[in-house]
Amino acid sequence: MDLFEHEARDLFEKHGVPVPRGRVAADPAAARSLAAELGGPVVIKAQVKTGGRGKAGGVRVVHTADDAEQAADDILGMDIKGHTVHRVLVTEASEIADEYYLSFLLDRAGRTFLAMASTEGGMEIEEVAATRPDALVRVPVDPLAGVDSAAVAAAFPADVRGEVAGVVEKLWDVFVTEDCTLVEVNPLASTSTGIVALDGKITLDDNAAFRRSASFDEASDGSPLEREARSLGLNYVKLDGDIGVIGNGAGLVMSTLDVVAAAAAEAGARGPANFLDIGGGASAQVMVDGLTVILGDAQVRSVFVNVFGGITACDPVATGIVRSLEILGARATKPLVVRLDGNNVAEGRRILAEAAHPLVTVVATMDDAAREAAKLAIAEV
Ligand SMILES: Nc1ncnc2c1ncn2[C@@H]1O[C@H](COP(=O)(O)OP(=O)(O)OP(=O)(O)O)[C@@H](O)[C@H]1O
Ligand SMILES: [Mg+2]
Repeated sequence: MDLFEHEARDLFEKHGVPVPRGRVAADPAAARSLAAELGGPVVIKAQVKTGGRGKAGGVRVVHTADDAEQAADDILGMDIKGHTVHRVLVTEASEIADEYYLSFLLDRAGRTFLAMASTEGGMEIEEVAATRPDALVRVPVDPLAGVDSAAVAAAFPADVRGEVAGVVEKLWDVFVTEDCTLVEVNPLASTSTGIVALDGKITLDDNAAFRRSASFDEASDGSPLEREARSLGLNYVKLDGDIGVIGNGAGLVMSTLDVVAAAAAEAGARGPANFLDIGGGASAQVMVDGLTVILGDAQVRSVFVNVFGGITACDPVATGIVRSLEILGARATKPLVVRLDGNNVAEGRRILAEAAHPLVTVVATMDDAAREAAKLAIAEV
């Protein structure tokens, strides 16, 4: 899960990473009193889990408590890339001489951890990586030996290297101790009071959720659809395409995504709209929940239900599909392509044939079903 900037700031502080003083406020009056308490110029920063807040007008430097209240009033409720601002971080403003970039991340392709550093901070690092790859230094990190802080600090100007090396070690401590898959500081600023982490982004490893000591704002993690799915106990990830995907078992769903992506590319559709594993025992309620979430995605134009009957036989799955369409009634509006195979497939297909629901097409193989779903996704309605 991703953390808010203020949650990252607090973890940095806990591990001794230099951060500006500051706290979060949920209304303009609270922002005003925080600004008065901090004294001097402060920065009012939108707390949303997306980048580009500065460019969207969600980061403002102000010089008085009055202006802090006004800025908070302007920023609260703002929509930044589909995220509504519910809180602002009020921090002391730093006098910035230089803006750097520093991060630790899990490098899946390299099967290791990676430190990335650049003297071109403050801007989007993807752009730096694309336009001036030499400006981004990558240093692999051995998880057992820890980070070679001198090697990372070498990416920075000589006069700040010693201080940066200390920050590198503390950030690695955050990464390991807090079970992170990403710790990013952009900008890591060189200021009149030394090196300071002015913006932090942290992704926590969900596999380690059970041993987390601190509690974070879980409720606000992910998109609204992902949150709804989580509250229903579904394993759902929203993707960008137009073909909804439901399957039983993570392996089957992953291979379904591949097959759908290929069929979509061929047909001119956009691709899978989501990952949704309904797991074993696809009851009618699980089908209803899954379909409700998928049909809640306005981008979805067709749905591919791909089920391989194992311990759960095909007939209860087919019953689940039929019952869920009854329950959804008029809310079910998109065509469904169903591929059933495995345990008791004949009975499953018979149940679907008997129901003869106008939105359902049964296709025998996974490849043909993916092609049919892609065809339906681009069909005029
Ligand atoms: N405490 C601070 N003091 C002074 N300037 C700050 C402070 N915090 C942020 N800034 C300035 O605002 C810029 C944007 O802030 P930040 O990096 O936190 O937001 P962002 O969401 O990454 O925005 P963007 O993607 O537009 O850069 C920083 O690059 C820095 O120049
Ligand atoms: Mg930033």
